[in-house]
Amino acid sequence: MGDIRNIVVLTGAGISAESGVPTFRGPDGLWEGHRVEDVATPEAYRRDPDLVLDFYDQRRAKLASVEPNPAHVALGRLDAEWKGKLLIVTQNVDDLHERGGAERLLHMHGELKSAWCLSCGERHPFDGKMAGYPACAVCGVSGHVRPDIVWFGEMPYRMEEIDVAIATCDLFVSVGTSGAVYPAAGFVQSARYAGAETLELNLDPSEGSIFFNESRMGRAGDLVPEWVDAVLGG
Ligand code: OAD
Repeated sequence: MGDIRNIVVLTGAGISAESGVPTFRGPDGLWEGHRVEDVATPEAYRRDPDLVLDFYDQRRAKLASVEPNPAHVALGRLDAEWKGKLLIVTQNVDDLHERGGAERLLHMHGELKSAWCLSCGERHPFDGKMAGYPACAVCGVSGHVRPDIVWFGEMPYRMEEIDVAIATCDLFVSVGTSGAVYPAAGFVQSARYAGAETLELNLDPSEGSIFFNESRMGRAGDLVPEWVDAVLGG
């Protein structure tokens, strides 16, 4: 490893798998029994809001029964101890990175514990049920609060910040993501273009595995703490 100052870590569902949060692309192609297009698109929300709101209510409620695993905790430690720049970009909508201590963190696909009011446009912290059509905590209007989740066909959040971080990083690390969903799947190539080292930590080779300088296959709960120890020790 050369002289590393600026690190970008991209995480996906695989980092939360050992905490008991299911990944998206299971062997049956379903996400918790649903086709992705039935629960994770604006069209699905317009067609059957009750189904979509209830689906995300269940995902949100599940957060109370899961805990960060050693991979989240290791990234929290990296954040606390790494003196250079760091940005952890997660595609996950759970709150396990925060609970593992990460602060230099960005949720590019939104958050379960955030609500977006389509009446006033404001976003606010949310930890209840949306299926009962609660009033917006900001404007008080009922019936227009939706999950603050980036659905298929919508624009991921804070892309400019991510692009700058990747263009100026020396090391890009991808953890627990299948590399099936853009723009995140393209970050490795942008990082290579910027001259960064690239490392993949995943259970199986991702779709973009060939683009990484190095791939380590295994469980995030083993690989991430090992990698963080090496970075902080070296
Ligand atoms: P996927 O379900 O597509 O991929 C999860 C990856 O994690 C796979 O490559 C697995 O091999 C790997 N994996 C599973 N268990 C692991 C473990 N214990 N340790 C390490 N790796 C493990 O999830 P994402 O790539 O996150 O978007 O999916 C990307 C996006 O697609 C999601 O953010 C979501 C989804 O549709 C939106 O909702 C917008």
